[in-house]
Formats: sequence, C-alpha cells, structure tokens
Amino acid sequence: MTPASIMDYRELARRRIPKVLFDYVDGGSYAEATLARNIADFEDLALRQRVLKDVSQIQLGTELFGQKLSMPVVLSPIGMAGMYARRGEAQAAKAARDAGIAMCLSSLAICDAAEVAKAAGAPPWYQLYVIKDRGFTENLLHRLAELGCPVLALTVDLPMPGMRYRDVRSGLFGGGGMATPFKRAWDGITHPDWLIDVMLHGGPHTFGNIAPAIPEARGVMEFWPWVTKNFDPTLTWADVAWIRQHWKGPLVIKGILDPEDAREAVKAGADGIVVSNHGGRQLDGVLSGVRALPPIADAVGDDLTVIMDGGVRSGLDVVKALALGAKACFVGRAWAYAVAARGGPGVAHVLQILRQEMTMAMALTGCTDVKDAGRQLLAG
Ligand SMILES: Cc1cc2nc3c(=O)[nH]c(=O)nc-3n(C[C@H](O)[C@H](O)[C@H](O)COP(=O)(O)O)c2cc1C
Repeated sequence: MTPASIMDYRELARRRIPKVLFDYVDGGSYAEATLARNIADFEDLALRQRVLKDVSQIQLGTELFGQKLSMPVVLSPIGMAGMYARRGEAQAAKAARDAGIAMCLSSLAICDAAEVAKAAGAPPWYQLYVIKDRGFTENLLHRLAELGCPVLALTVDLPMPGMRYRDVRSGLFGGGGMATPFKRAWDGITHPDWLIDVMLHGGPHTFGNIAPAIPEARGVMEFWPWVTKNFDPTLTWADVAWIRQHWKGPLVIKGILDPEDAREAVKAGADGIVVSNHGGRQLDGVLSGVRALPPIADAVGDDLTVIMDGGVRSGLDVVKALALGAKACFVGRAWAYAVAARGGPGVAHVLQILRQEMTMAMALTGCTDVKDAGRQLLAG
C-alpha cells in the first residue's frame, strides 16, 4: 500500500510490529471512550469554507518559546519508540529537525537525550516524569540544561497508570503468566522485518534516560510494575516550584484538562501548557482535548502558550485546534505509527502530509497566516 494518510500509516504499523507493541501504541485506557472522543470531537467540528481570496502564499511558520518552527506541530513524547523501529526516537528527531519542527523526548524513550541530540543535530525538548529519587531528577535537569534542551515538559497526568485492558491482556502490565515468553517469541518471529531491524540491530533496549536511576528499567517489556513503584504520586503544585529552581528554561505543564488547573499553571510560573488527556490513555471518560481547549484558551491564553494534543490525525485537525485557541499541536500516534511502519522516512512523510493538509485547510478557509487563525475558521 502507498500510504496517503496518517491512518494508512496506522495500518502499515499494525502489519509491521508485534501485536503487543501495536496494542500499546494504538490503545487507550478502560473502554477507550476518551480515545474515541478525541477523534470524534475533531470530526464533529466543521471548517468554514471561504473562496476567492488570494491564497498563493500560506504562512504556517510560528515561534514557540523563542524557537522558530516551520509549522505549529511538535512530536509528542512517546514511550518506547525505540522498540517500534531501530533507535526510533533518534530517527524521528532527525525527521522533525529536517522538517523544521521540534520533538519532545519521552522520559520513557529508549534513546537518551544525548543520543537524540547527536542524531538530529540539535537537542530535543524533554518530557519529565518525576520519580521518587529527587536527587536523580535534579541531576538529570542539570544534564539536560548542559546538553541545551530548549524546553522542559512536565507531564502531570500520570500519578498512577490508567488501566489499559489491551496491555493487561498482552502481559505488558505484568503478571502475564507462564505462556507470555512463548507468545512474545511467536509475536516477534512472525514480524521478521521488525525482528531484524529492532531486536538484531536496534539495541541496547533500555530506557536510556532513566535506566541509571532504576535498574529494573533495563527490562523494557515489563515496565509498568516498576513505573508504579518509582513514579512519585505525591507530586503537587508546590513541587513545580522545586522544578523551577532546577530548570531555568521554558517550562510546559502537560496534562491540563480544566481551566482551574490552567490558572494554577499560570500561578506556578509555567511558560506553557499542553491541554491533554494523554491520548485517552489515563482517566477514561474525561473530555477530549479539543473540547477541553476553548474554555482553557479563554482563561489563560493571554498568560501563557497553550498547546493541545489528542486525536490529531490530519492537518485539518491542527487548523481546527488553532481556530479554538491553540498556538500549536503535539502529535502522538501520528508519528508513532509512522516510525513503526517506516522509521525516519515514515515520520518525514507524515510531517509532509500534515503540512499539505494544513496548507489546503488554510487556503479553503481563506486564512493565509496561522497567526490569524481563530474561531472565524469554524462553521456553526
Ligand atoms: C504509545 C504512546 C506512548 C506515550 N508515552 C508518553 C510518555 O512517555 N510521556 C508523555 O507525557 N506522554 C506520553 N504519551 C501521550 C502523548 O504524549 C500524547 O499526549 C498523546 O499521544 C496525544 O494523543 P494522540 O496520540 O491522539 O496524538 C504517549 C502516547 C502514546 C500513544
């Protein structure tokens, strides 16, 4: 199949990587109602078609935290991408850099920040999960600053993992039973391209950024039990001040879904927020990102940079999010499917698709510059 859309990449990913990994990428928590809403609520929004305007020059470029981006898109932090393709995060970061956008590297990445910086030719943004060992986090923040990571995104919607039924069934949540190793082996053998690319040539398979603090983090396929043991559920707004002490660069709080919390983020001195329900992977039944966005943008849009994520499957969705007050979108599964299907070239192609789709949506809504995108782009 010649992939034309992000959902085509989903299908290619499904074929190429083992089921246990595809389910981890594709799935959400509980009944996956919020995961479905993230997509359905974008579909429900109608763009307002306008015609006979000069749309020969469409301006997608924007600036986030002093960094120029060729379009208002950032690759979301995605755990374990180095298990979907050989050194997956490094490949994706290179594709992002070549496309003139940024990547936010997950705490649960296989490649560490230094490897990604080297591959891409520029340090990534870094997504932080705070673990109980505060000394480690302090050191990590200093190392990231030394490396030149431009932005820190503190993820706050995972004080404990949401139950993901697909991962329970596959044994990824632990306790998979005696047959699990055999099932895993079969899952691998029946996906030979992946086996050669990742298992033969893609090592080391550890969580590069945090393995020094958590020895169990070497076992990538049994990670939920140690996540539960090591992530710090006592984290409060007071700890954001502690992070601020050790991180002088721009700080973004990821996982905000309520205007009250958005106001707290302003008070805590954050430079930005990501309106996010973690891609429908945490508390099922909460609002979609795109429905949560407008009241949050109204409440704090003048005080800090509002980014959103969840359900972005095309450039049209990005334009809808901009219309509702986002300055940019994080995209998660869009790049995860692409890297799983075709590595870095897949990510490059998905970014090209997003750019073309955005350009088209801007042209047919008669908006020639992303800075002018507003609610006038939506019908009804
Ligand atoms: C496979 C997968 C792994 C993820 N890992 C992380 C992570 O390590 N840290 C984090 O802050 N968010 C993580 N997320 C959430 C994404 O950063 C983002 O919020 C979400 O994917 C956006 O929804 P979308 O996939 O519909 O674009 C992950 C999402 C997926 C799908």
